[in-house]
Amino acid sequence: MLNQLDQLEREALAQLAEAGDAAALEAWRVTYLGKKSRLMTILGDLGKLPPAERPAIGRRGNEVKRALEAAYAERVAALKQEELERSLTAAPLDVTLPGRPVEIGRLHPVTQTLREIYAVCAEMGFQVYRSREVETDEMNFQLLNIPPHHPARDMWSTFYTTVPGVILRTHTSPGQIRVMRAYCPEPIRVILPGMCYRYEQITARSEIQFTQVEGLAVGRHITMADLKGTLVEFARRMFGADRRYRFRASYFPFTEPSAEMDIECVICDGKGCPVCKYTGWVEILGAGMVHPVVLRNGGYDPDVYSGYAWGMGPQRITMLRYQINDIRYFWENDLRFLEQF
Ligand code: DAH
Repeated sequence: MLNQLDQLEREALAQLAEAGDAAALEAWRVTYLGKKSRLMTILGDLGKLPPAERPAIGRRGNEVKRALEAAYAERVAALKQEELERSLTAAPLDVTLPGRPVEIGRLHPVTQTLREIYAVCAEMGFQVYRSREVETDEMNFQLLNIPPHHPARDMWSTFYTTVPGVILRTHTSPGQIRVMRAYCPEPIRVILPGMCYRYEQITARSEIQFTQVEGLAVGRHITMADLKGTLVEFARRMFGADRRYRFRASYFPFTEPSAEMDIECVICDGKGCPVCKYTGWVEILGAGMVHPVVLRNGGYDPDVYSGYAWGMGPQRITMLRYQINDIRYFWENDLRFLEQF
């Protein structure tokens, strides 16, 4: 029996050296290590041997089994390596081929402008305060000194929800009330960016959905000079120190006095073109001193505190800087447009 095992081992190892591919290897495994192989039969039938012979045969049998298993594993690895080398030499790699391009995304042009605005305002001490897009009529209008039926509401027709008194905000201004109520009586210097909605006809200059950035400063002894100084500095940083600007008197129910700020048209350098409607100036924001009624609605005593506010359109600013002539491009999601930024 021991001789039989020796011979079996020799034979198996010799056959293994001959096995040249995966199929041959598998056939070898079944023949020499499978359940019905001679080796397994010998090991399985140990019990039938006279007790005196069992230990020696059993030991030798297991030795052979371990030797065959190890040789098999080695052969499998060697064959794999051979195959790899063959494939590497058969079809040589051209490492000079260009790699597959990786598509890198980018920020939407309006997001880029928003972030620049945040950076400029942050340097001037303004924090970002996020306010909600779904608002109440009270916040969006009434507390901003626009009572129901006030004709000024015509400027801000909006989308109504099925919940009475709940609307989509028409401007970021209701955030003024929210931030004042959150911080009163502390001084405030914040910007309130975000999406606004208006029910209006979609044209090259107006969309039903657009971004705004509201600015608000409240404290003691704040004057119109602070408002002008801040906005002039802002315009210098956004549009360059040489760009001319002007303030015009205007009207908003939530500011008194109110103004609008224009900058010299970036596209024609003030000479006159379709974008500036041949005036040489483009409006970039509305602003003013916070109306006493609004201050009081925010919790501040208007006899002690004052403040200024502005609201601007980052899309308008983006259009100016990149000479985009139609606001509808922004949300159309046309990659031919977006990939230019
Ligand atoms: N909320 C105004 C609008 O959407 C813009 C605006 C004007 C905001 C004057 C202000 C402001 O804070 O002081 O048309």
